[in-house]
Amino acid sequence: MTELTLRIAAATDLSLMAALEARSTAHPWSEGQYRGSFESGHQLLIAQNGADIVGLAVIMLVLDEAHLLNIVIDQDWQGQGLGRRLLGQLMQRERQQGALRMFLEVRESNTIARALYESIGFSECGIRKHYYRAEQGREHAILMEASL
Ligand SMILES: CC(C)(COP(=O)(O)OP(=O)(O)OC[C@H]1O[C@@H](n2cnc3c(N)ncnc32)[C@H](O)[C@@H]1OP(=O)(O)O)[C@@H](O)C(=O)NCCC(=O)NCCS
Repeated sequence: MTELTLRIAAATDLSLMAALEARSTAHPWSEGQYRGSFESGHQLLIAQNGADIVGLAVIMLVLDEAHLLNIVIDQDWQGQGLGRRLLGQLMQRERQQGALRMFLEVRESNTIARALYESIGFSECGIRKHYYRAEQGREHAILMEASL
């Protein structure tokens, strides 16, 4: 299995990132959210498989905690093992940067992402009730953590 190439996004990549997410998930971040995250100093990463841009991730590193704020595989590339590879590489990358644990939050209804997180070593550590806006009403955020 070849490694994905991870590169740090520049300001000129923000519209590309928002467009990738918009076609790949039901609840995408806006370009403004990407810009705010970029300006806050978060790590915005673009994943390439050869020449193809296949996904992205956003991480906030706080001391020895890596907070995975977003992870997306382009819709055209989902279900082919790339999300698992990307997350594995992110965990390794953050460990190398001194993080001891990774945290994330995920919609309760996002069974695909939750299955990936559990199978790669995350476990539930909390719940934020009615946190996300949903098609009808609101839904809970499940908080998860993994040792790196
Ligand atoms: C969640 C996401 C990153 C996973 O990436 P992916 O490349 O599609 O997933 P993979 O092919 O690597 O599969 C990883 C695991 O996810 C689960 N999975 C993937 N596709 C699935 C499907 N269609 N049905 C059920 N489970 C599925 C499985 O547990 C799979 O493990 P397996 O390969 O051992 O069966 C991707 O689907 C995505 O970008 N979704 C939209 C954005 C999103 O929800 N991000 C998470 C925000 S918290």
